Amino acid sequence: MTPKRFVNQVAIVTGAAGGIGRACALRFAQEGAHVACLDTRAANNEDTAAQCREHGVEALALTCNVSQKAEVQAAVQATEETWGRVDILVAAAGIYSGSPLVEVSLEQWQRLIDVNLTGVFLTNQAVAPILMRQRSGSIINISSMAGKTSWPATAEYSASKTGVIGLTRSVAMELAPYGVTVNAVCPGNTLTDMVRKVAATVGPQEGLTAEEWLQRRAQDCPMKRMAEPWEIAGVVAFLASPDSRYLTGQAIEVDGGMVMS
Ligand SMILES: NC(=O)c1ccc[n+]([C@@H]2O[C@H](COP(=O)([O-])OP(=O)(O)OC[C@H]3O[C@@H](n4cnc5c(N)ncnc54)[C@H](O)[C@@H]3O)[C@@H](O)[C@H]2O)c1
Repeated sequence: MTPKRFVNQVAIVTGAAGGIGRACALRFAQEGAHVACLDTRAANNEDTAAQCREHGVEALALTCNVSQKAEVQAAVQATEETWGRVDILVAAAGIYSGSPLVEVSLEQWQRLIDVNLTGVFLTNQAVAPILMRQRSGSIINISSMAGKTSWPATAEYSASKTGVIGLTRSVAMELAPYGVTVNAVCPGNTLTDMVRKVAATVGPQEGLTAEEWLQRRAQDCPMKRMAEPWEIAGVVAFLASPDSRYLTGQAIEVDGGMVMS
């Protein structure tokens, strides 16, 4: 049976309309937290909030572009006004793009950095004063195995995800005296729309169907499979739980052994 470690706590989850963000929102709801779901895709985000409510908690669906400071501040303010506190931030909103270095336009670079790195900065910045005032809480930023290692044609994604790890460490040091933990999770290939879209684009370029490409990537992993989003959410929940109170500033690979290998 799933434990109920977050009863009456409040979690903010960005990128909650799908994939890893949705799995995190549902995990916190399942364990008793009220959840503010932030995403740009309003209908899918409302769907996540509705699924959270099925676990008997309250949930807000807030349309928010994490790269826009005013939108992030408004969403965090709405959350605090609704429940009077914030205990957990999961910064999962992210996008992927990849091209050979010489083909990456400045616009492509900037768009990805704005969401994947500036978005994490803005959400951490908006939530930190609340957690510091409460002298408790957890921030979990979703980086990637691409933050720990790199491969060709992914300069902007890899840079953004390594940046998330550096940002996480610095914020962790600032918030540690307040009893607030800040960690990053670095997923390996996880079966979400993001990976399926990459498979549909890159597979045919390599003479493979999307499904064949996914299977080949799974074979690269020591565990010979991709992760399911709930497997990432389980580690995120651990990082928000009392069992990890002395764990901060870390970037934890949840990748079936990919980076290790
Ligand atoms: N799927 C993987 O294999 C994998 C591996 C490593 C890291 N990650 C990271 O995990 C996180 C979640 O990815 P996912 O696989 O669930 O992808 P996904 O595409 O399924 O979900 C990402 C969500 O972020 C939202 N989003 C995008 N831009 C946004 C913005 N500007 N403001 C608010 N919301 C925005 C999207 O609407 C979407 O709902 C991302 O940061 C991604 O880089 C994913």
